[in-house]
Amino acid sequence: MDRTILVNRDNPIPSDYRASIELENVEVEEGFFVCMERETAEKYQHMRHYLSSIGIEVKAISGYRYQETQERIWNKNVADHGEAYARQRVAKPGYSEHQTGLALDLTLYDDQGDMVEDDDVDAYGKLLPHLHKFGFILRYPAGKESVTGYPFEPWHIRYVGIDAAREMYDAGWTLEEYVSRTREELGDRE
Ligand code: DAL
Ligand code: ZN
Repeated sequence: MDRTILVNRDNPIPSDYRASIELENVEVEEGFFVCMERETAEKYQHMRHYLSSIGIEVKAISGYRYQETQERIWNKNVADHGEAYARQRVAKPGYSEHQTGLALDLTLYDDQGDMVEDDDVDAYGKLLPHLHKFGFILRYPAGKESVTGYPFEPWHIRYVGIDAAREMYDAGWTLEEYVSRTREELGDRE
């Protein structure tokens, strides 16, 4: 399977996608499971152990989402905050990369074991030099809102595989930029 698949506002999840992946339930804390694509699950666990060994504690709190799950999240955001808010921040059902099983939302903990606030950019920034070593990218970085279509989400990471993640990290590319460059290169060869 292609783990650099692009799912965004313009590219819905393909209807035959679910059949192309294996999912795994990862026990992220006792009795609490998060479902992820198989290789994503393996790399997430490696990354979590490594981060823990250097004093950074993370936990995945959301991974693969069924269509119904994304519908529930979308409807709740519309009900709680209005449609304009939801449109800006939440992918419409069928357009969330959580539906690939390759995207994870992380929670980060401080030295006291307390959960770090979502908007604590400095704290989340500690993850950045490490993600690509395990094949992950920060999917919605600050300053790339016009490219990704979403505001900065320091907690949302995406598995793309080690080679692609390293290339994007080194070049400072989003997945949109990586995919369009790769398509250009392939086009050049034809
Ligand atoms: N918050 C991200 C964009 C999602 O809903 O998939
Ligand atoms: Zn997310």
